[in-house]
This record gives sequence, structure tokens and C-alpha cells, in this order.
Amino acid sequence: MKLLLATVAACLLAGCGSHMDQSTSPNSGASADGTTASQLALVPYPDDVTPMPGTLELTKVVHVEAADGTETSAPALNRLLKALDITRDSSAHTQIQLYLVDEPALGDEGYRLDIDQQIVLSANTDAGLFYAVQTLSQLLPANVQASYPLPNLSITDSPSYSWRGNMLDVARSFFSVEYLKQHIDRMARFKLNRLHLHLSDDQGWRVEIEGYPKLTEIGGASAVKGGRSGFYTQDDIRELVRYAKARHVTLVPEIDLPGHTQAAIASYNELACDDVTNLAPYSGLEVGFSKLCLTDRETTYTFVKDVLTEIVKLFPSEYIHIGGDEIKDPLYPEFIARATRIVDQLGRTAIAWEEGSVADNDPDVLLQLWNDEYDIQPALDRGHQLILSPCSYAYFDHGNYQGQPNTYDWCRKEGVPLERAYQLKPEDFEQIVGVESAMWSELVHTDAAADNRLWPRVAVTAELGWSRADDRDYQAFLQRLNALRPMLDAMGIEYYREPQLNWD
Ligand code: ACM
Repeated sequence: MKLLLATVAACLLAGCGSHMDQSTSPNSGASADGTTASQLALVPYPDDVTPMPGTLELTKVVHVEAADGTETSAPALNRLLKALDITRDSSAHTQIQLYLVDEPALGDEGYRLDIDQQIVLSANTDAGLFYAVQTLSQLLPANVQASYPLPNLSITDSPSYSWRGNMLDVARSFFSVEYLKQHIDRMARFKLNRLHLHLSDDQGWRVEIEGYPKLTEIGGASAVKGGRSGFYTQDDIRELVRYAKARHVTLVPEIDLPGHTQAAIASYNELACDDVTNLAPYSGLEVGFSKLCLTDRETTYTFVKDVLTEIVKLFPSEYIHIGGDEIKDPLYPEFIARATRIVDQLGRTAIAWEEGSVADNDPDVLLQLWNDEYDIQPALDRGHQLILSPCSYAYFDHGNYQGQPNTYDWCRKEGVPLERAYQLKPEDFEQIVGVESAMWSELVHTDAAADNRLWPRVAVTAELGWSRADDRDYQAFLQRLNALRPMLDAMGIEYYREPQLNWD
């Protein structure tokens, strides 16, 4: 809901806190509907903001009172305070209180943030409190200041969708544990909660499977031409899972089956049918040429079951992605149905790319829509739910602008500029669990290039996944995001200098 916040004008976009010093914004005026200048610099925008008169001068010493059960939100608050040089002392005048409450309307991830004489964060869950801390972090400046004025207000907020995701293709080109941790931190700041890791493809196999060591010895050593090779050990994965969990990000593993499997076949030749002669590691860009031998059911399903058994031991995610894209084989529907059932027998639920909808799957299997025009209606009629990733809005390996070097344009020749990404309307779709943007890495070989493709567009994913349709306004979004630029800088993000944000 949009509110005119005249009473707290001092602390709005043009006001207090150093987020506000991006006075070069091209969008500092109001939009046509006159609302943009009235929004706080928050992305995603909260559901309900009630301004109160006055400001709270947050001092350099505060008293933090955290209830039991705040094991992730209290440390998140501590990290925020530490970064701003704010120390804790139980005799301090200003208090920050973290409360667990029982208010069904807030749901599992919602929260209230009240700023008045004190700062009070309340939620039903530690996750909700964690998100309240993220909102507080966006209200505060990104860097140490002499003092921290905050607008008095009351925010009541909860997400539109439970699935607010981003996918990284770590298979074509590898990304380090350190980069993933940074990415998790950045996602969490925007209340994103699903990091989908595309862990295997033709060009590389990136996760250690103890029963099949050659997958990483051979499959982990290859990469797309120009990209990085490597793999995550099982200890790496456990560390990433722990790190992500503390930030309310679920790591969703994808083992892409039965196509996109050249790295597996190069590691274990018996996974290909006998007539296949191309058994070498692959570093090209073509897709759709490799597959497990679907007529050799013994070999194929033993492999699939063994690998997925180790995957579910490593990843606590309720959902396990089995891929299923871009392969033609008469036995494909049988494969998908059997693979989704294997996941089910392992106590989890499968996700498949949209093509998997042709199989006889249990309706609780999630389908990930990636071609804008794919006819997913029959699957919806059977009761499936969707993750929304239509490529012409959500594929961030596509250019930030038309013709950007080292970007794809097969889905949309104009690329996927920020404004285009924002035009996706999740509310127009039925039976969705949420939204997920994707960054494939055939042409993205460095951390800097990944930052450039991901940011600032991932902030759009956050807003589409969290904010209500009637709170979303592109001009207002630009203004709010522009004001958060120091936060992106402080997080070390090498974002694309988006001209619509005047960042060029
Ligand atoms: C895909 O883009 N092949 C899912």
C-alpha cells in the first residue's frame, strides 16, 4: 500500500541517513502518480508502512534485548551494529528489542518493526525477526556515521511468496565457496530465500559424490571454454548449508538429468549407451546432445538413486531439482516419473524444469517455467505448482542492455534490462510458489562478470517475490534502489552501472 509520508519527510528519500546522499538520482522528483517521493528507501517495499511524527536518534551505544529463539536474528543484528560501530551496553538509553509473538497474520516470515522511543522488532519466528533486521539495515546508512537518525514508524510486513529465488549455474563455470557466501549475504539483505545451485551439466560436475569419485576427478576438472573448473567437497557443501541456514537461505541442489550429462558420461563411460562414441569432457556451448542411457535401466537408475541419496544427505532442502530440460528421448517421460519418485522415496519433493510436465508425476512435484510461451496449463490442471522463471524477464545471463558483450539474447534479442525484469507480473499467474531469476554461466566466467549480470537485477527478483502488486512502481523502485547504492557498494558488489539509475 502506498502512503504519503509527509509527517516524516525529514527521513524519507531525500532525508536522514546516508543512503540518501545519492542526490544525483534522475528520479528525485515524483512520478506521474505523485507517489514516488513518498516511499522509504526499502527494497523489497514492505506491505504496510505507517509513519509517526518525529525521529529516533540511534546512539552509538544501545541495549539489545533478544528473546530466546532468536538464534539467527540476534547475530544478524549484532553484525549490523558492529558494521556501524554501534556497541552494546545494558545501561544504554536506546533499546533494540527482538520479540517472538503469536500473531497468525504475520505468518512464518512476516514481522513488525516499530521505531519510536525504542526499536522493537516482533515476529512469530526467528526468520521474521531476521527480515525485520534486514529492513532496519536498509533504514540505516551503509557506513559508519557520527549518529543515526531513524524515522519514527511502524512497519508490518510479510512476503507475497514463499519462494524468492536466484539460480546460479556453477557447472559451466565454477564459483567459489567464498563467492557463494557473499551471494547468500547479498540475497539475504533483500529477503531472498532460495539459492538454486545448478551443480551439474555437460561442461562440469561440481559436487563430490563419495560413491562416484571420478565425477569430480574428471567431471570437476572441466569447464566451459574460458570458465573456471572446480568442485565443492562434501565439507564445503556442509559449510555452505550452515552459512545459508543462518541467513534463511535454502540451498536447492540441481543435478541435471537425464540430459546435460556429458561431464558424468566422461567420468563414467558406462552411463552412455554403447553406441555413443563421444565420451570426452566437453567445453563447448551446444546443448541437447548428451544423455544417460535410458534403455539401460539398471545402470541409469542405480546411478540416479546413488547420487540423489548422497545429495539429500548433504542438502536439507525440502525440494531437490532433477533438471529435465532440453532432451529428446522416447523414454524421457518414464525417466522423469521414476526420478521424481526416487526423490519422493528419499523423503523429499522433486522439482523439474517445465519439460518434466509431460511425465506422470505426483502433483506435488514443482515445475520451473522457463520458456515464456510453454504450455504449462495441462500441468496446472493436474495440480502442479510453479516456480516462475520466464526467460525473457528472469534470465540474467541475458544482457543488461541489448548487445552487451558476453551475454545471450536467444530468449529476447533486446536482452533483459532492469525495466523489463520489473515488468513480470507474478500476480497474473496461478499456482505459483514464487519467482526465481537465473544466471547461466556459459558466458560468465568471473566473479565481477557475475556481479554485473546479477546486480542490480536481483533486487527486482526480491521485489517481485516479496512486495504486493499495488506497492510496486518502477519509478519508485528506481528511486529506492538508487538510495541503496551505498549499501551495494559496502557489500562490494560490482554491479552493472544501470543508466536508468544514473549509475553510468
Ligand atoms: C534451461 O534454460 N535450459 C532451463
